[in-house]
Amino acid sequence: MILSGKAGVAGVMGWPVGHSRSPRLHGYWLRQYGIDGAYIPLPVAPDRIEQAIRALPALGFRGCNVTVPHKEAAFRCVDRLDEAARRMKAVNTIIVQPDGTLEGRNTDGFGFMANLSDGAPSWRADAGPAVVLGAGGAARAVVLGLLDAGVSTVRLINRTAAKAEDLAADLATGPATGPGGAIDVIPWDQRGPALADAALLVNTTTLGMQGQPALDLDLTRLPPRSVVTDIVYTPLLTPLLLAAQARGNPVVDGLGMLLHQARPGFAAWFGQMPAVTPDLRRFVLEGL
Ligand code: ATR
Repeated sequence: MILSGKAGVAGVMGWPVGHSRSPRLHGYWLRQYGIDGAYIPLPVAPDRIEQAIRALPALGFRGCNVTVPHKEAAFRCVDRLDEAARRMKAVNTIIVQPDGTLEGRNTDGFGFMANLSDGAPSWRADAGPAVVLGAGGAARAVVLGLLDAGVSTVRLINRTAAKAEDLAADLATGPATGPGGAIDVIPWDQRGPALADAALLVNTTTLGMQGQPALDLDLTRLPPRSVVTDIVYTPLLTPLLLAAQARGNPVVDGLGMLLHQARPGFAAWFGQMPAVTPDLRRFVLEGL
């Protein structure tokens, strides 16, 4: 791509950033839509993150994505937050406003829900309880997405119960704040029985990722029509998804969450809401 002097510039700040798929993903869209723009990797050490974020307007950047380990620091140093970032206490997308101020957003919950509706169009928020395994940053996005979509009960299960309790306390909505669902924290050793009558099972732990042990979970109690999804996408079909598929459950892999979470940022920086297509999936997979 040959840039003009007017090209819009965005990027991704991480440390390290070499593993990020975002430059490949945004680069595909820039080329597909013929946009005069660039999206570049920005390796930023933790002790310089605030300085780097604050420099975005001075450098004429339209904004950037923020990845590990900077999402919480970005939350603290932008000027304004959207609702999702405020509730998640983490920012993954920064938009430089026309007046030079910085808006922090979090699009991970959007990415999770968009991937779920793409991959399992028959799933409905009112179909029954959702079981979420894990209580890290990804779980926060998933639980928030599910509650906002109208799921009435999320069963949250994490090896370290205190982290699940913290997440539940942070995100719980109640009748006072709107329709709001409940988050029930369930002990890790009850994860098998907790699958009874679940309409959705989500793994947000790192178990099943390449180089990690598989998730040890007995699926016997899981209803046959429950949708199973994993946010891990290396491998694309984790041992959990393979086991669920083998017993006939619909499964949704995690790659689409990465692709969909990127769309709102691209739209804000480059003026075009990009599409997630089979070709894009193939292109990003080739780069894994
Ligand atoms: P992220 O922010 O990407 O979600 P994270 O904060 O490192 O990542 O969270 C990883 C999740 O995987 C946590 O829920 C973690 O459980 P703990 O809170 O108990 O650490 C879970 N996890 C990682 N290894 C695990 C293992 N061997 N058994 C059970 N859970 C594990």
